[in-house]
Amino acid sequence: MDPSEPEKPRILRTRDEMLVWRAQQLERFGASLRLGFVPTMGALHRGHAELLIQAVQANDLVVLSIFINPAQFGPAEDLNLYPRTLEQDLQLAAACGVTAVFMPEVQEIYPAGFGTAVGAHPGLATVLEGAIRPGHFDGVCLVVTVLLNLVRPTRLYLGQKDYQQVVVLKRLVLDLGFDIEVEVVPTVRDPDGLALSSRNRYFSDAGRRLAQAMPEGMAAAALCFLQRPPKLLDLCRAFEAAVNNWAGKTGLGGTVVIDYIQCLRPWELERASEQFASSGAPSPVCLVAAMQVSRDGQGEAAVRILDNLFLCHEAPWGHVLNQLLEARNFLPPGGHQP
Ligand code: PAF
Repeated sequence: MDPSEPEKPRILRTRDEMLVWRAQQLERFGASLRLGFVPTMGALHRGHAELLIQAVQANDLVVLSIFINPAQFGPAEDLNLYPRTLEQDLQLAAACGVTAVFMPEVQEIYPAGFGTAVGAHPGLATVLEGAIRPGHFDGVCLVVTVLLNLVRPTRLYLGQKDYQQVVVLKRLVLDLGFDIEVEVVPTVRDPDGLALSSRNRYFSDAGRRLAQAMPEGMAAAALCFLQRPPKLLDLCRAFEAAVNNWAGKTGLGGTVVIDYIQCLRPWELERASEQFASSGAPSPVCLVAAMQVSRDGQGEAAVRILDNLFLCHEAPWGHVLNQLLEARNFLPPGGHQP
């Protein structure tokens, strides 16, 4: 082996292989084994790399799972089209120092006769994304329950970009009594501010430009928050105006449809109250949004993108706001000091 090449992770394909590998590691490390787990559907990008790097830094061993979970896709959704980039995924896993990759086939996770259901908390799973994608979070909870039982990690790593998924899965871990810490890793953005997502690959160059409507809206809301004591409605209006303005400015003629824009209490799905600005809390409100953007910058809206932003003057969120404002050229002369 070339010593400059990173060590390849061990590939595990079956439930038995996963369980045996885990038992061997427990024997090697003893009960103090710290095992990090990053569940994914593949098509990995720098956002996933950040999860993997944090997991590698904080644990003895790290398992990455790559499994496109049919149970979380609706009948009209993109299950068959979902990007598959296994070779690159394995290279990234090796480069990040992942110890093992669990990549089962569908029949391994859902063998013949599988019939047990795991329902996501209904109050959390039927709003926002759940209202648009009925059953989605039940499918997420089902597969994550199976995976957590097989991997039995010390820590589970999730990306902040999927805010509602984090809220739902934290609840699952709590309600089902998994002895696991949930670590949430901040969203990674492209230089123009667009949050990284496996689905960004669906965009043509023109579609990708139109999709900048999302960070444009987020930056406008952030500026509104930083400039004056905000009303929640003002933040949402600033977002909507900037999104529509951007869609017009590109001259592409495509559609941007805002599915929702809401100000929530941090790490909850309850709407924030108007007192948030004066509450003095370190993370007073989270702006969450979803929109559909024309894949080719023209025609019907097709690709759904999600984003969220903690609105807060305090570090680290104040820095995140400034970065987004800079990326979108929203920073007024002198900038803002978080
Ligand atoms: O976020 C994802 O990629 C998926 O929803 C997850 C958590 C891997 C479950 O399939």
